[in-house]
Parts: sequence; structure tokens; C-alpha cells
Amino acid sequence: MSERAVLWTNANIATCDASMREFTGALLTVGARIVWLGEEAALPARWRECERRDLQGRWITPGLIDCHTHLVFAGTRAAEWNQLLNGATYEQIARAGGGIVSTVNATRRASEAELFDQSAPRLESLLAEGVTTIEIKSGYGLTLADERKMLRVARALGERYPVTVRTTFLAAHAIPPEFAGRAGDYIDEVADRWLPALHAEGLVDAVDVFCERIAFDIAQSERVLAMASKLGLPVRLHAEQLSNIGATQLATRYRALSCDHLEFSTEDDAKAMARAGTVAVLLPTAFLHLNETKVPPLDALRKHGVAIAVASDCNPGSSPSASILLAASLATRLFRLRPTEALAGITRHAAAACGARGSGTLSVGAAADFAIWDVASTDELQYWIGRNGCAGVVRGGVQVRGAAVA
Ligand code: NIG
Ligand code: FE
Repeated sequence: MSERAVLWTNANIATCDASMREFTGALLTVGARIVWLGEEAALPARWRECERRDLQGRWITPGLIDCHTHLVFAGTRAAEWNQLLNGATYEQIARAGGGIVSTVNATRRASEAELFDQSAPRLESLLAEGVTTIEIKSGYGLTLADERKMLRVARALGERYPVTVRTTFLAAHAIPPEFAGRAGDYIDEVADRWLPALHAEGLVDAVDVFCERIAFDIAQSERVLAMASKLGLPVRLHAEQLSNIGATQLATRYRALSCDHLEFSTEDDAKAMARAGTVAVLLPTAFLHLNETKVPPLDALRKHGVAIAVASDCNPGSSPSASILLAASLATRLFRLRPTEALAGITRHAAAACGARGSGTLSVGAAADFAIWDVASTDELQYWIGRNGCAGVVRGGVQVRGAAVA
């Protein structure tokens, strides 16, 4: 069966490939892939008669990729936010028995359907901003059944909505109350039983650990990463968010896809990420919400050529936000990313961070996933603080959002 060919004409195209080239031209999709792009006059003769859609000078970028979220959860932590506003730290709240564990209680109480219904509106806000791929972590269940419930909801969201979901198993997110004082036993359970079981059920695309002095230490984190590697699963790490206990050095030994947060990273950590090809994922809304003052070492990351991604970290405790555009916008202000770096950070580098191969660029062979923008330049994607210029979304070559492009 021959697949439908569509020429999207009269577009301002931001490729987001390594060149970050931008040009005015056309893009040809055949089925769910990009087959050609360039100046329209150079279109090969055999495509000249195909179906056309006129983008009327709008900008297009690859479908955005939110490569770090905890989007599936129940309840909120608005009460804790008041504590944060009054000067308490995230670490103090966690040590006092709040934090992640409060969301664990709410998430355990929710049925799979309730969890889906509470999570879907957050996904909808991201989709309205041109997101076509999202990573979603578990980590608020902390029993085998509740971690499975979260991952099943993540998969179900990907089936119900026009979005590619990459799941990450993050049972090593906090020590659940029933394992208090027995972190080692908990890790045995997570690494030796739950991870292989959920992987066998097809629910796990990658594995993450909160490696931090209020969560899991290096040896405990390594137990989980080692099992992931044994199962052939890629790993990532919540690293250097509140302190530096050597998380990045550990992650890069396992050739992690990404290290995320990184406020307390050093130049040696940047070197290790560069050597391992690990992406640095920056989460500016978490930095903002937690009143952090120490910024990730941007100069060192740039100097050593580390790929930098930006994500929403959508979660109820450190980043109550469901906006990838806000994250990109704040990355330019809070971390001094240049607009093109921020754009690469929510497209190409985000794809690498969540293992979404074939996404994140407009290039021949890539997925025909793109967002259509009512902006005068791609800088406007970050320039606006809280304005969504997304006018439409094409996923797999089919327009799934916005007024139909005729
Ligand atoms: O990315 N730091 C650990 N995990 C999340 C926060 C989760 C929560 O507080 O509920 C983060 O910041
Ligand atoms: Fe996170």
C-alpha cells in the first residue's frame, strides 16, 4: 500500500538538527516520516503533483519533547508550597516525613482510572504547547502493584492521546514508610524483583534513581543501575540536585542517557558526561519553585561539549508546572541558556535524553512530528514568559491539533 505524501509548503523551518539551520521552504511527509525538506524550487519532480498544505509563512519546529516528567500522580502538595514560601527547604520537608511520601500516599489511594483522570489534564496542557513525545516516570507507588499502576497509566495516556510516551521506572525515588530504616532491603526488592517483573510486562523503557543524600546513596543507586544494565535497559539519574555525592560519576560509568538537575555538578562531572555522551537535563522550574540559588555549571557543560536538554519536571513537589515552554523560557533567564540552546534542549537533545530515536529534528528519515507556531522567529518561543504560540501539531504526518492547514 502506498502511503500518503503531503508537501507542507510556505513554511519557516527550524530543523533543530546539529546545524540548527533555519530556512524558508517546504517539507514532504510520506506516511509518518519526513522524506524531503528544502527550498520548494528544489523539490524532486516525482513529488511535484502530491497533496499540498500551505503553512502561510508560519514557523515549524520538531514536535517538542518533554524528556523529564513525573506527570502521573494524585493530589497536589499545595500545603507544602506554603512551607516553602515561609522559608522551609525541600530537604527539611522531606526529612520531616512530607515530600515525595505524601504524594505516595495519595497515589496509592487512587485507582488506575482516577490516576489517569487526574494526570490527563496535565498531559493536555503539554500537548497544547506542541509536545509530541513525553517521558513519564513512576516513583509515587513504591509497591510493585502501585508502580505497575503508574506505568500502566503512562502507557494508557500514550494510547489515548497523540503522543509518544517513554516510561521510566523510578521506584528508587524515596524509601516508603514500610521500609523505614531498611533502605538496603527496599533496594533489593526494587532491583531484584520489581524491575525484572515490570520490564517483563513491557512497562519499562528506562530506569532512574534519585541519587541524593535524602534518597539513595551511591551503592544503593548502583544496585538498581546494574540490574537495569543486565536487562539491557538504558539508565538516567536524578543527580546533584541538592548536594554532590558523586551521582554523575556513577551514572556516566553506566553510560547514562542523562543526568538531571545538576545544580551541584562540577567541571569533572561535565567532563564525565561529555566522555559518556550523557545529556545534561536542566529543570529550571524546579530550581525556581525550590528557591534554589546555585545554578548548574553552564560554562563547564558548554566547554566540554555536553548536550543540554530542558524539561518541565512536571511533579507536585518540586515543579508544579505542566509547561515545556515556560521551562525553556526560564532556562534562558535563570540559567542563561541562549534561545537556540533552549530550543535544541526541548527537541534534539531532549530526544537523546529519553531515548526517543528518530525524533527531535526536522530531517530526512525523522518522524513526521512537528509543531506549527504563530511567532515571528523561533526566539519568541523563549521570549514570551507564559504565552503559548502553538497554532497546530502534526504527528505521524497527520494534523492532530489546530485549525486545519489547507
Ligand atoms: O525531580 N528530586 C526528586 N524528584 C522530583 C521531585 C519529586 C517530588 O518532590 O514529588 C524532582 O525534583
Ligand atoms: Fe524529577
